[in-house]
Amino acid sequence: MGNVFAVTNQKGGVGKTTTTVNLAAALSEYGKKVLLIDLDPQGNATTGCGLDKNEIDNSSYEVIMAEARAADTIITPEGLGFDVMPTNSDLTAAEVELLEIKLREHRLRIALESTREKYDYVLIDCPPSLSMLTVNALVASQGILIPIQCEYYALEGLSSLLRTIERVKQRANPKLDITGLLRTMFDARNNLANQVSRQLINHFEGKVFHSIIPRNVRLAEAPSHGMPVLAYDRGSRGSIAYMALASEFMRRQQKANG
Ligand SMILES: Nc1ncnc2c1ncn2[C@@H]1O[C@H](COP(=O)(O)OP(=O)(O)O)[C@@H](O)[C@H]1O
Ligand SMILES: [Mg+2]
Repeated sequence: MGNVFAVTNQKGGVGKTTTTVNLAAALSEYGKKVLLIDLDPQGNATTGCGLDKNEIDNSSYEVIMAEARAADTIITPEGLGFDVMPTNSDLTAAEVELLEIKLREHRLRIALESTREKYDYVLIDCPPSLSMLTVNALVASQGILIPIQCEYYALEGLSSLLRTIERVKQRANPKLDITGLLRTMFDARNNLANQVSRQLINHFEGKVFHSIIPRNVRLAEAPSHGMPVLAYDRGSRGSIAYMALASEFMRRQQKANG
């Protein structure tokens, strides 16, 4: 669990997938060996890494259901720089099927036990819900990254996420910790964004990443080309922001691990 991180927020469209893909790319740019796990049945991270969802035989679904070994589902897409455990819509069924299964909250943790040691970092892109899939990600993780779009309702859903994290800590994973809250799609000219940003900093003290991800059209365009922004437009503000985040993330990590 020491190197596994869940990128989660039950709100949709806050930048989870964008963050998972581009942080994975930035960390690998720094020479780290990274595995991205797509745990959202929508499979946006899978397609964002240039993979065709329809051509995937073994996905994170088979891993969660113990029908395939993690190692047998992992793909190393050419030119991407990091490995991917893809998904497809089969994973939707896992939500329901998991409810019938013993140790259902521990499936992913168990499945990753030997695989994760081959990587410096494993990043899990979570679905926009506090479902059994998200709980599996939290049980398998050491840290949590929470992307937040600084707008009016941003803080509203946060309390139920924090409750879920607390429950997972008590019941299954006492070492789980919030690595950082990440301000995404940030527009510094927007007063409300600045106000929400200040609230976050007041409320979560040292947990808010100094790095801020600006709103940047290159970040929105890159997935339709099936590549991280670093490959699509290296010099863009989006690329630079995710490189800065990766560097801050690694520093935090080293500190946390003593
Ligand atoms: N910093 C950004 N600037 C511009 N567009 C962004 C940015 N981050 C994400 N987007 C776009 O916003 C939408 C939602 O982002 P996404 O990462 O898919 O969110 P989530 O995974 O939380 O649902 C996507 O269309 C994505 O391309
Ligand atoms: Mg997503």
